[in-house]
Amino acid sequence: MQFGYFDNENREYVITNPKTPAPWANYLGSPEYGALISNNAGGYSFAKSGANGRILRYVFNNFDQPGRYIYIRDNDSKDYWSASWQPVGKSLDTYKSECHHGISYTKIMADYSDIHTEALYYVPLNKTYEVWNLKVTNNGSEKRNLTLTGYAEFTNNSNYEQDQVNLQYSLFISRTSFVENRIRQTVHGNLDVLGAGETVDDKRPTDRIFGLAGADVSSYCGDKEVFIGRCNGYGNPDGVVNGDLGNALSYNENSCGALSTVVELMPGETKNIAFILGLKENDEAEAIMNSYTDPADVCEKELAELKTYWGEKFSHFQVQTPSKEFDSMINTWHAYNCFMTFIWSRAASFIYCGLRNGYGYRDTVQDIQGIIHLAPEMAADKIRFMLSAQVANGGGLPLVKFTHNAGHEDTPDDASYVKETGHPAYRADDALWLFPTIYKYVTETGNLAFMDEVIPYANKDEGTVYDHLKRAIDFSMKHLGRHGMPAGLYADWNDCLRLGKDGESSFVALQFYYAMTILRKFAEYKNDSEYISYLDKSQKDLWNVIQNLCWNEDRFIRGFTEKGEVIGKRTDPEANMWLNPQSWAVISGFASKAQAEAAMENVYTQLNTAFGAVLMDPPYHAHAFDGALAVIYNQGVKENAGIFSQSQGWLILAEALLGHGNRAFEYYMENSPAAQNDKAEVRKLEPYCYGQFTEGKASPHFGRSHVHWLTGTASTVMVGSVEGILGMRPDFYGLRIAPSIPAEWDGFTVEKDFRGKHLHIEVKNPGHAESGFKCMEINGQTIFNNYVKDEWLMSNGDNIITLYMS
Ligand code: GLC
Repeated sequence: MQFGYFDNENREYVITNPKTPAPWANYLGSPEYGALISNNAGGYSFAKSGANGRILRYVFNNFDQPGRYIYIRDNDSKDYWSASWQPVGKSLDTYKSECHHGISYTKIMADYSDIHTEALYYVPLNKTYEVWNLKVTNNGSEKRNLTLTGYAEFTNNSNYEQDQVNLQYSLFISRTSFVENRIRQTVHGNLDVLGAGETVDDKRPTDRIFGLAGADVSSYCGDKEVFIGRCNGYGNPDGVVNGDLGNALSYNENSCGALSTVVELMPGETKNIAFILGLKENDEAEAIMNSYTDPADVCEKELAELKTYWGEKFSHFQVQTPSKEFDSMINTWHAYNCFMTFIWSRAASFIYCGLRNGYGYRDTVQDIQGIIHLAPEMAADKIRFMLSAQVANGGGLPLVKFTHNAGHEDTPDDASYVKETGHPAYRADDALWLFPTIYKYVTETGNLAFMDEVIPYANKDEGTVYDHLKRAIDFSMKHLGRHGMPAGLYADWNDCLRLGKDGESSFVALQFYYAMTILRKFAEYKNDSEYISYLDKSQKDLWNVIQNLCWNEDRFIRGFTEKGEVIGKRTDPEANMWLNPQSWAVISGFASKAQAEAAMENVYTQLNTAFGAVLMDPPYHAHAFDGALAVIYNQGVKENAGIFSQSQGWLILAEALLGHGNRAFEYYMENSPAAQNDKAEVRKLEPYCYGQFTEGKASPHFGRSHVHWLTGTASTVMVGSVEGILGMRPDFYGLRIAPSIPAEWDGFTVEKDFRGKHLHIEVKNPGHAESGFKCMEINGQTIFNNYVKDEWLMSNGDNIITLYMS
C-alpha cells in the first residue's frame, strides 16, 4: 500500500493519505535550533540541545502528540478542523490532505468545507526560531467568517527529563503573560532580579515566545488546561470549540501558547499569517515579530533561501540511472538523511528523545563518510573535531560530550569519565573508523596536506593527523588478545557482543588489517620507509592469525571470547553465520578470491531475505554465550538476527568490489526505503529515510522497520552506492570509475564536482555487463583504462568523461 510519492523535481515527498502507518517525520533547522515535524504536525523543537533546550513538548510512545497545531473554526456553523489532518481528524471523505515534506521544510495542505489551507513550517536559514506560515483561501462562493488558532505546547522546563518526570518541581516554575501580539512564557520568572551572569542553583529566567504576525490577536491563552479543558483532547480543545480563548494566563502548572485571530474571507480571497515560536528574550522577540508584518513576502523569500542552500549542497553529486528509486534517494532524500545523521548524531528523533548528549565515537566518524562527496569541508571540520576526541594513547573517547574541550578531557581511564558518561571502557573499534573516513576525505579532495595538520588529543599532547593515525595503530597493538588480534575491550561495532576485555573480534581484526593498508598508502606518500617496514611486518603477522584462526571452511567466524570460546562456527546451534565478518573480509582486502566468493555466496543463501540480509542466524535463544547480549531482544530483532540496515551498506560495497553488480543492486533494493514505497504498511517507516533495522525472518512482523532517520545506515549505504555501485573510487591522484551495476542497465550519468572541477560522467553499457570496462574518453581523448588522472581535468568548464563498460 502506498501513502505518497516522490516529487523529484521539487525534492519533496508528498503524502496523499495522512493515515500513515507511523508518524512520518521531517527535520527542520540546524544545530542551533532543531525541530522535528510529522505529516500530522506532531513533533517538538529545541534550542541547541534536545536534552537541555527543549521548547515544545512531545510525549514519546503516544502516537505523535502534541504538535504544531493550527485550528480553523467556521464561526457561523461552529464546525472546526485542523490544518493538518490530526488532531481534529475529520472524516477523510470530506477532508483532503496533502503533506509535502521538503528539504528542511514541511508544507501541509488541506481542503475542507471550501476552505483551502497551506501550513508551511520551517526554521529560517541561520535563525534560531521557527515559523508556521498559514495561507488560508476561501474557495467557496459565500463570504466566510473564520477563527484561526495556533497552539504550541511549551515544556515547563528546558530540561526534557525535568519536564517529564519531576512534576513536584516543574509545575511551579512557569508563568505566561501576553505582550502585544504574543504569549511570553517565563520559566523561573521569580529570578528576574538576578544580575548578569548570576544564577541560583544554576538557574536563571528563560523566556519563550509564541507570536502571531500578519493579523491581530482576537484572544489568547497561556494555560494548557484552560485551552484544552479538563476532559477534552487536542482534537476538541475548549478554546477552539468555544471560538474564544478567554485570555487566560498561567501561573504554575502547564503553560502553553495559544493565539486566535478572526478573519473574514470573501470568495476567492486569501489571508496569510505567521506564528513564530522560539526561545527568545522579550526585546529580541519584538524585533523578530516586527520583521514578519508582511508574512507572505518574507516567508516566500525565506523558503527560497532554504531551497538554494540545500540545492547547492546536493548539486555536488547528482545521478541519473534507470532506477527512479535509486535516484530519488541518492540525489535528495538519502543525501538529506546523511546530513541529518551527520548533524544530529543519535540525539533527537521520534525514537531518540534527546537525552544522548554527545557523539558516539564510532557512529560519528562513520556518519562523516555519508557527506564527503557533497560537503567535504563540513566533513573535514568534523574529522578535526573527532581527532581532537582521540585520547593520546590512540583510543577514541566512547562518548564525546557536546561540550567537548580538547586537551582537557578525562578518559575511560578516569573514574570521573566513567561516572559522567556511563561508558566504562574503551572500545576496540572506535579509532579504527578514522582510517576509511580520513582516506575518503583526502582522496575526494586531494588535500594531502591535511595529513600534516596538527590537532590536539582529547586529554593531552597534540600531533599531526598522520601521527593520530599512527597512535590509533599503537592503541590496537597495545591491546592485543591472546591470539594476537585486537582485544574485544568493551564491545566492537556490535554493541551486543561482549567478548570480554581480552576476547577478540574478527570484525575488528579485519578493520585493523584494512587500517594498516590505508596507513601504508600515507606512509608511502611520506616516504616513511621505517614505518612501512613496521606496518608490513605487523600486517603479515595479523594476516597469518586471521587466516589460520578465523576462516572456518566456508565462512569467517565472529571471534573468540576471553575464555577462548569460538563464536560463529559453522557447527554452532545458534549464530553460526555472521554477516559483517564476511563483507569486511572483502572490504578490507583480506579475503582471497575463493574465500570472498564462498563467504558471500553463503551470505546470500543463509542470511539474505526479501528485506535484506539478517545480521546473523539462527538467533540467540538457548545457546547464547555470556557476552551475547543480543539475546535480550526478541528473535529477528536488532542485533538478534534482525536485518541491521547499516550492515546492508557494507554488503552492497563488498559485492560491488567483487564486481557483482547484479547482487549489489539486489541487496540495495531489498532494503531501500524508496523501493518499498508501495509496501509502506509492511515497512511502516518513512519511505524516504533509512531506519536502524528491519525485523528479520524470525519475527512475526518480518519486514517492519524501526528507529528512523538517525542511523549509521545512511552513511554506509551511501558509500555502498556511490563508491560501490556507481564506482566512484578516488585515490590520491585521481578518480577510478569502476561501476558495479545491474547488467540490465544501459548505463547512467553522474554530475560530480571533484577537486574544484566539474565532471559530467556518462557510463555506457551496451553489452550489458555487471562490472568492468573497455575504454574511456576524457574530453575527447580515448584511453584503455578507467582511471581519470587529476592533471587531465580542465578547471574551467565541464569535463566530459564517457566510460564504456562493454
Ligand atoms: C547502534 C549504535 C552503533 C552500533 C550499532 C550496532 O546503531 O548506535 O554504535 O554500532 O547499533 O550494535
